[in-house]
Parts: sequence; structure tokens; C-alpha cells
Amino acid sequence: MNFTAPDRKHLRQRCPWPVTVAAVTVVLLVLFYAYDTTTFADNSRVIQGYSHIELSSSESRLSDTHHLIPLLYKPFVHPVDASKFVNHDGQTYELTEPPRFTEPLGKKVLILDVDTRPLNGEGGMLNETMQYDSITHQTAGMLNHYLYAMVHGYEYKFIQSPAYTDRHQTWVKVPMIREALKSYDYVVFLDSDAVFPHTHLPVEWLFNYWNIREETLLAMALDPDQPFNKDSRGNTNLNTGFIIAQASPRTTEMLNVWEDCVTDTKFEKCSKWRYEWSHEQAAFSDFMRYEYERGTEVIELACTEANGYPQKADSGCSGEFVRHFWLGKELVADALRDTVSRYMALRLHETFRDYIDVSMVNASNKTLPLHAGERVIV
Ligand SMILES: *[C@@H]1O[C@H](CO)[C@@H](O)[C@H](O)[C@H]1NC(C)=O
Ligand SMILES: *[C@@H]1O[C@H](CO)[C@@H](O)[C@H](O)[C@H]1NC(C)=O
Ligand SMILES: *[C@@H]1O[C@H](CO)[C@@H](O)[C@H](O)[C@H]1NC(C)=O
Repeated sequence: MNFTAPDRKHLRQRCPWPVTVAAVTVVLLVLFYAYDTTTFADNSRVIQGYSHIELSSSESRLSDTHHLIPLLYKPFVHPVDASKFVNHDGQTYELTEPPRFTEPLGKKVLILDVDTRPLNGEGGMLNETMQYDSITHQTAGMLNHYLYAMVHGYEYKFIQSPAYTDRHQTWVKVPMIREALKSYDYVVFLDSDAVFPHTHLPVEWLFNYWNIREETLLAMALDPDQPFNKDSRGNTNLNTGFIIAQASPRTTEMLNVWEDCVTDTKFEKCSKWRYEWSHEQAAFSDFMRYEYERGTEVIELACTEANGYPQKADSGCSGEFVRHFWLGKELVADALRDTVSRYMALRLHETFRDYIDVSMVNASNKTLPLHAGERVIV
């Protein structure tokens, strides 16, 4: 994660007096404004006494976020067509075929959350106020998805879905992905307990790595290789916590058949998956995947790459590219924090290094006690 610093030399000059006076005036205005209208920590915006950023109204503050987040992560973003990716531990992942995706897809990609629950309680995504210390795992997961979309310029939507009356609510992702594919070329759906651990690694690179091609309808991860995760033919189940869907008439047809599976018109005994775990996952694993070309139309992703999490690495699934915290919901908030603070810490340190002659005083060659009249900071 090396990057070159943008040219900020012009900020290093000392401010002349009139500018300082103007800056102090602005700070006072800002404090008055903050006191008057909002609790936003605006004085944090005054940078080192050298410059200031004007306070924005809450409206432009939101658009600030849309500008600031991509700028903060920009130096780290991995090229979509890179031949390899090296993770934080130095492990290397290489493409096995030349990249198909060589340009960012931008708004052709939708990062999608779907939920039927109100999610407006304390720490909830739909609560008007955010209590940082009581953030729920759903909120943490969704904020990770929102962040990831913002960093890479994808669209993000959270659909509050109507509830089914004839089956378990985990089924709602099926019709909602189908709906989303009417407006986007690629829909990347995640359960709220699944996160992208590498905020800087774009989905286009993952599409290349996982060989998503023109004929691909869906890609999803395998479950851990355990006896209770087998379908009726003895193959390991797929997990619907992370789904890549590509728009095509055939994908729409597939999602229709999947949704109708429980009527038993096309498949016998699919109706048991209305309420019995693992619901739509079992219906897909038992019936749907065998209707399509496996490996090209339906791509089964390795569990360790798109399922599980490091604390469950002994299951064979450590969640390298997508982390799915099935049994560790309390870990989701930490996962969100890591996808923010990792990059912020690196940028802060880079900035400190860049301004080292301003921010660091080397007084190590002085002797204590200091002589009267001696100054450490000059
Ligand atoms: C929203 O969160 C606040 C605390 O942050 C809480 O007092 C309030 O009850 C929550 N709203 C609902 C509808 O639960
Ligand atoms: C201590 O370091 C400063 C800056 O590097 C230098 O100007 C000064 O001469 C040094 N003082 C002594 C006593 O070595
Ligand atoms: C601080 O100054 C001392 C002596 O003046 C020097 O040996 C040391 O390398 C300096 N430290 C840094 C980080 O520049």
C-alpha cells in the first residue's frame, strides 16, 4: 500500500497576519454556527493552523462525503485489471486468465442490501440518529457495503422489502435481485453479516479473478465442507450470503424459477424449503444449480474466498475477499472499523511524514533540565 503524496507544498507557508485574523474570525463563526444548528465537530476541520476549510451546510456536507470518501481511498485502490493481488499478510492471488474487465464499471454495478425488518431501533440503519457504541451488526455490515460502493463509484441501495406470507423471509433476496437486475448490469448482493474486508479491491478485479464471463448468470460461495451442508446428491451447498448476478433474460428466468421452486410445479419436494433451513439456499443447491452449466453459468466460489471469516479458518473458510460472519455477529462492527481505520491510519501517517518538519520537534540532543530561556519549539 504505497502511494505518492499529492503536491501540498503550497500549504506549508506560514500564514500572514491578515489571513490569520480572517481564519480566527471564520473559526468563531463556525463555532457559533455549530452551537446554533448542529453538534458536528467543525473545529476539527481547521488544519494545523495553516489553512481552514469553510464550514458547509448540512446539505453540502453530504455531498462532501461523496467527494471525500473516494479521495481518501483513491491512493490505495487496486487496478481493476491487475494481474495479481497481495493481501495484508503478503499472500498473493493471481488471475488465471487475461482480465475481461479492464475498465471500472461504475454505476453499472449495484451493491445491494435487502431486509424486511424495520431496523430502526437503537444502533439500527434506519434510525435517524446513530449511536456509535450500540451499532448493530446489520448497520455495520450495510455501512461497509455503502462505503465500498462509494469508494469505487458503484450504486448502493438498501431495499426494505415487503414480507412473504408463505415462506421464510430470507427468500426475499430472490425477487429483489431480479428487480434490481432491471436497472443494473451487475448486482452484488450481500447479507448484512457479510463484508468486503479489502475496501480498496474493486469488484471488477474479483470478477476477473473468479472468471465471471458473458454467459455467467450467478456466482455464489460454497458452504464449509461439512455433512450438514450437503444437498440431496451429496454436493456441498451454496450459500446465498454473497451473490453476484449478471443481468440477462436467462438470469431473470432463473430467478423466476427459483422463486417458484416451492410450488413443486417444476421440482418435487422443493416446498419443504419454504420454512425449513436453509430455505432459498437449499432450494438453489438442491435443484437450481443442476439446471444450468456449472462453472460458467453458475459459478461456485471457493468457501475460503467468499465465505467464512478468519476466526473460523478451521472450517476451511477464512473469508479472504468476502467475510461472512455467520456465528460471529459481534465481529461485524470490528470488521467495519478495520475497513475505515486501516486506510485512515495509513493516510494520517503519510501526512505526518509529509509535514514532518512542521509537526515533529527533535529535541533529543537537548539536556534536561532545560536552561532558563531555552526553547524547545522554535
Ligand atoms: C433510535 O435510537 C435512539 C438512540 O440512539 C433510541 O433512543 C430510539 O428509541 C431509537 N428509535 C426507535 C424507534 O427505537
Ligand atoms: C541539536 O540539533 C539541532 C538540529 O538538528 C542542531 O541545530 C543543534 O546544533 C544540535 N545541538 C547540539 C548541542 O548538538
Ligand atoms: C534527532 O536528532 C538526533 C541528534 O541531534 C539524531 O541523532 C536523530 O537521528 C534525530 N532523529 C530523527 C528522527 O531525525
